[in-house]
Formats: sequence, C-alpha cells, structure tokens
Amino acid sequence: AEECRIYSTGVLVLGSGIAGLYTALKASEYFEVTVLTKKGIPESNTKHAQGGIAVALDQEDSPSLHYEDTLYAGAGLCESDSVRVLVEDGPLRVEELIRMGAHFDRKNGKLAFTQEAAHSRRRILHANGDATGEEIERTLIAQALGEERILVKEEQFLLDLLKNQKGEVIGVLSLNGKTQELEIYLAQAVVLATGGLGQLYCYTTNPEVATGDGMAAAYRAGAQLMDMEFVQFHPTALFIPGAPRFLISEAVRGEGAHLLNVRGERFMEDISGKELAPRDVVAREIWREQAKGEVYLDFRPIGLEKVKQRFPMIYQTCLDYGINVLEDRLPVAPAAHYMMGGVRTDEMGRTSLPNLYASGECACNGVHGANRLASNSLLDGLVFGGRIVEDIVNTARSKGLMDPQLSDIHTEKDESCPGYLRNQLKREELQELMWEYVGIIREEEGLKKAIKLIGDWDRTFIPEREIAQLELKNLLAIGHCVARAALAREESRGGHYRWDYPETHTKDLKHSIQTKEGYDVC
Ligand code: SIN
Repeated sequence: AEECRIYSTGVLVLGSGIAGLYTALKASEYFEVTVLTKKGIPESNTKHAQGGIAVALDQEDSPSLHYEDTLYAGAGLCESDSVRVLVEDGPLRVEELIRMGAHFDRKNGKLAFTQEAAHSRRRILHANGDATGEEIERTLIAQALGEERILVKEEQFLLDLLKNQKGEVIGVLSLNGKTQELEIYLAQAVVLATGGLGQLYCYTTNPEVATGDGMAAAYRAGAQLMDMEFVQFHPTALFIPGAPRFLISEAVRGEGAHLLNVRGERFMEDISGKELAPRDVVAREIWREQAKGEVYLDFRPIGLEKVKQRFPMIYQTCLDYGINVLEDRLPVAPAAHYMMGGVRTDEMGRTSLPNLYASGECACNGVHGANRLASNSLLDGLVFGGRIVEDIVNTARSKGLMDPQLSDIHTEKDESCPGYLRNQLKREELQELMWEYVGIIREEEGLKKAIKLIGDWDRTFIPEREIAQLELKNLLAIGHCVARAALAREESRGGHYRWDYPETHTKDLKHSIQTKEGYDVC
C-alpha cells in the first residue's frame, strides 16, 4: 500500500563482490545493468580474500589436475559437470581479469603461484602478497564505474524477490538505507550475488555484511536451497581476546608455517597432508587440541624476509594486535569462513525459480561439494558469472526476455502467524547458539535444541524497518536451514562433522534440498 519509487532495468544484479561485478560487466556488453549493493561497493567478502585465486595457468599444471583436486577436497559431493566448467573456463576468465588491469604477483616476469591445502600443484595467484581480494575488487570496481551501461546503487537492502502470476522472478523490493524508503526494481533478468552467511556465527572471518540476505530472500520466494549443512570453518584465524578473528591465510602454511600445540609439538605431523590437509581436517584437529590449550602458528620456518614480502598485511595486522610473527608464535583458532551450500543452481547459474540466477557464495552449483578447495571461491564467482550472462543472452536470442510491468507483480498472502513481538532478540544469541550446536562438531541433541530455539525465535521475531533487524530475520531463516540439514545428514563428510555419526557413508550419496515446503534429498 505504501508508495514506492519504481525503476526498470535490463539485468539486475544484487551484490558487488567478484560475482556481482563480473556478472554486471559481462552483462553490460548486451544490456543495461543495475547493481544494488547493501553498503558501499567494496564491502564484500571478496575484498578480504587473502590467499588468492586458484587457476590452472602454470605450465606444470592442467585443468584436469585442478579438477581432480577439487573433487578430492569436495569429499564426494561435487557436481562433476560444474567442476569441469570451473576448471576449464577458469584460465580464460582469469586472463580476462588480468586484461582488465588486475596485477597478480610475478617472479622474473612470470605469474607467481603459491601453494594451499589439498592442491597437488602451486596454483594460487596472489596480489600484493596477501591482499588478492582487494586487488580484484579494485579492478572490477574501476571497470564497473567506468562503464556507462552499469548503474551501481549503494545502501540498498534486498527485502524480497518479486514474482509475476506465473512464478517468474521479475524484480526486487529494496529498502533504500539512505532514505528508509521502499523501492521497486523491475528487471528482465535477476542475478543474486549477495555472498555468504559468516555472521551466523560468533567467530567468523567474514565482514559484517555477510548475513545471507540473498539466500533468505530466495528461500522466502520458494527457491530451493542445497547442501546447507556444509559450512566451511577456516582453520586459522587470529585468536586474541577482544580482537576480530582476522583471517590468517592458508598460504602461510602453504609457504611452510607449522601448527604447534600448547606443548610446542607439531600435532599435524602424523596426519596425511600435515598442515596442508583439507581445511575441515585441520580445523577439527585444532579444535581438539584447543581442549588442552592454545594452538599456535609458527611463521619462522618460512624465513623472516619471505614473511614480510609475501604476507605484509598479515604481518602488519598481527603487529597491530601486539604480536610480531617474526619473533613469536601466533595464537590461532578456527572461524566460520565460507558457505558451500546456498541457492541451488545448475551449471548455467539458473536457480529453481524462472528468471532468477545465482552466482558466487550465495549459490550452490555443486563445485565445492562438501568442502571447498582453497581459493576456488573467487574463481567460482568469475566463471559462473560469465555463464549466467551467456544464458541470459541465449534466452534473449531464442525466446526473448520478459518486459515486466508493475501490474505484473503478484504477491502471495502472508500465511505467517506472529505470536508476539520480540524484536529485542540479539544477533549474538543466535551466533552463540550456532557456534555451540551447529558449528565445527555437531550431534543430534544439540541440533534439535538449535532447531527448536531458532524456530521459536523466528516465529516470534517481527523486524522493524531497520537493517540490523532485517538481517537478523534473514539469519534466523538460514540458520534454521543449516541446522535442519545438519540434523538430517547422519554421517560426517567434508565441512559437516557429526560426532554421533563420525563415518562417511559411501552409499546413497545425496544433496540436501530445502524449500519453504520442507526438506528433501536429490
Ligand atoms: C586463505 O587465504 O586461506 C583463504 C582463501 C580461501 O578461502 O580459499
């Protein structure tokens, strides 16, 4: 009933990390594009990426080796067709990024590759040592702002997806954070690139904006979410009381740093892969050691000069928090880092809702399986952003795109029945519950408790038109999905570990699927 400003565009992209901006740039070759982003343009997980971007560009490497490593890390749950697309399209997309102006570190004029866990080759490109995401984001922002067919609007909070009578997605309802007014964006195609959900947990490497808004909006609109139980906990985040869990890149271990327990022993030495075992393995071992005392990362085996040259940002940040990694061991602990699950898509980025695409961390196209291979996430955003635009262009050529009008918007009756207003719920309550019961190690009783509490909170929490409250409402919806999928998966696999079901079943391998209507497998 409220008056809204109405805008129309060709392709509407939600989010301004690598997935959003690259999709926008490719789409602008054919269409007018509008990008809506929740805060400022650079505010995304992309900016914080350190280790780099994995790509088979070295002479010693090949897409087929990258394919094998991705499948191995994914613990049997990768979609092989999507992985093939990732590793085969990856080199061309990264070369394009370089042509756009991204400067990756080089040695003797050649691209320099680093090592990360579970990669059989040195395959990770990096920039300015350990500030790879910043360099990529800088490049894409410069390109997008220089492209007159792209309009970027900041401070736009995605409230809901809009559909027509046929269930096709035709735009979004957005809250303008500057004016507090509602705005409607109608589009010929809608792309979610809204990123992850690290803020579900009290300890995370993710920035404040990572509240799963795109996943929640898609879920409310009836889209399928897939593999929501698979949250990746990065093994090594800074662990100093009062300090944020700043990421300590896996590349630090890739270049030779050791993990030490409270007695100064290398506790990963007897485990296959040692410090470079897959992330879920390292995170759980650290978790176990933490029961006995602090766990440390010892940078000194890397060599003092190399630490400063390869990891200037990490070196400086640790110094700011009072630790000189050239002299002291650094206390580290796991933290929520990446969501393998998300809005289910096929290998063209199409979701289960017509005319809605998803790319990057908010999407689940099956490339990461149960455990993402290090540094495959930036590549995922590039490759599937490109595929989405190919699909929109092909659709435009074969049957034409929609031309949605305001009168096409079809709203479903809200069946929810609020019990009582409890908008004083704090985000921290949910984050602590998720960490304790739906975190690195899970079991039935804790999961049931979490599901019950989150369900009760969600039913009774009615947000006001205030972004922190709207984010919390989204976190409740997706936290419930994560916990529900984690309870249903009675096995341990990749990022999902159940101490009551520690084995990995090889039979009946299935993806979990959730919609508003319920839980299923496929
Ligand atoms: C890291 O630098 O360890 C993070 C890279 C990633 O998440 O893949």
